[in-house]
Amino acid sequence: MTATPPRPGAGRNASPYLYGTEHVAVAEVLASGHYGHTSVVEEFEDGVARLLDVPDAIAVSSGTAALHLALLVAGVTAGQEVVVPSLTFCATIQAILHAGARPRFAEVNPDTLCMDAPAVLDALTDTTAAVLPVLYGGRAVDLSSLDGLLAERGITVVEDAAHAFGSHQGPKRVGATGRLTCFSFGPIKNLTCGQGGAIIPRTREEAYRLRHLRLLGVVESASQRAASTAYQVTEPGAFRYQMSAINAAIGSTQLAHFATAESVRRHLWRTYRTALSGIPGVALVDVDVDHCVPHLAVVRVPDRDGVWRFMREQGVAVGVHYPPNHTQHAFKAWHRPLPVTERLGGEIMTLPFHQHLTGDDIRYVASTLQLALDATGVHR
Ligand SMILES: Cc1ncc(COP(=O)(O)O)c(C=O)c1O
Repeated sequence: MTATPPRPGAGRNASPYLYGTEHVAVAEVLASGHYGHTSVVEEFEDGVARLLDVPDAIAVSSGTAALHLALLVAGVTAGQEVVVPSLTFCATIQAILHAGARPRFAEVNPDTLCMDAPAVLDALTDTTAAVLPVLYGGRAVDLSSLDGLLAERGITVVEDAAHAFGSHQGPKRVGATGRLTCFSFGPIKNLTCGQGGAIIPRTREEAYRLRHLRLLGVVESASQRAASTAYQVTEPGAFRYQMSAINAAIGSTQLAHFATAESVRRHLWRTYRTALSGIPGVALVDVDVDHCVPHLAVVRVPDRDGVWRFMREQGVAVGVHYPPNHTQHAFKAWHRPLPVTERLGGEIMTLPFHQHLTGDDIRYVASTLQLALDATGVHR
């Protein structure tokens, strides 16, 4: 028995949302003939900084690039460890490895899927250089109770806020709490540039170095270079990580509509909460919706693989964010047993979540989930 015919919104797990004028902004950049780092990128950086209420933001080509550069300016070097939850996108781990460091995998709190202070304490070692909380689903992670201890040991907190653009920690937006913070503006994020990312620096010196590191170490702007016979390179081994003006133009259009993203995403998450509330055995992972711009709606369910298969057959695009990284073959050198994360890895299931969803889509997802649980017999 199926609930009702499949609904298009439920057939996509995630999806970019455009507000209608992005193509005009992109066409203007294309017509200008300047696609690299231009004033269009600087305008986007200013817009991000204004929204977050921070002095500066450095746009880069991806969230992964943002994490890599943030770890470098935090002073993380070869042989050191970075404490990181295993339950994150593999990009977080690859960025640590790009910096030459080792991931020290940590547990997460099963209610939030975020690393909390006890999990960090359990994972610290003599070689810890940084702690990298992942703001899973958009939820802010407050590690301020550890500030004294981490500062004493010279450990920097770098936030992976790929999911959390616009979320709040207390009265401030994520990024404005004094942490070195990294955002992703990939296709399906709360705000998309098509591809892109940003770093919120803690100091002017950090901002200065980040600006050089993202652009091959070159000091002069494109227009200064065009008007001169020479340019200077400030450091060896810098990267081509700048954001293209094409991507920045998309981002600035999206920024102008960000209030819509905030309210729609909160409303959709709350609609899920209501729709799922009567289903026994289903735990909706809490994102602290009143302070969050949700990026994901994730449930923990028994017999996840059976439920996942049933829902896919009914046209509901469920997903898994994420298979734990400490059990990935690529990262086996840094494996350590994490029983909570291993259990969660078999329970978590991501429901369709994007701004094209309707209330009826969400109710269809919820009723299909109920049917899936009945069909797999997990209540019996
Ligand atoms: C938690 C997390 N960290 C980092 C990234 C990397 O961001 P990007 O895809 O922009 O490189 C992502 C992207 O999905 C992510 O979900």
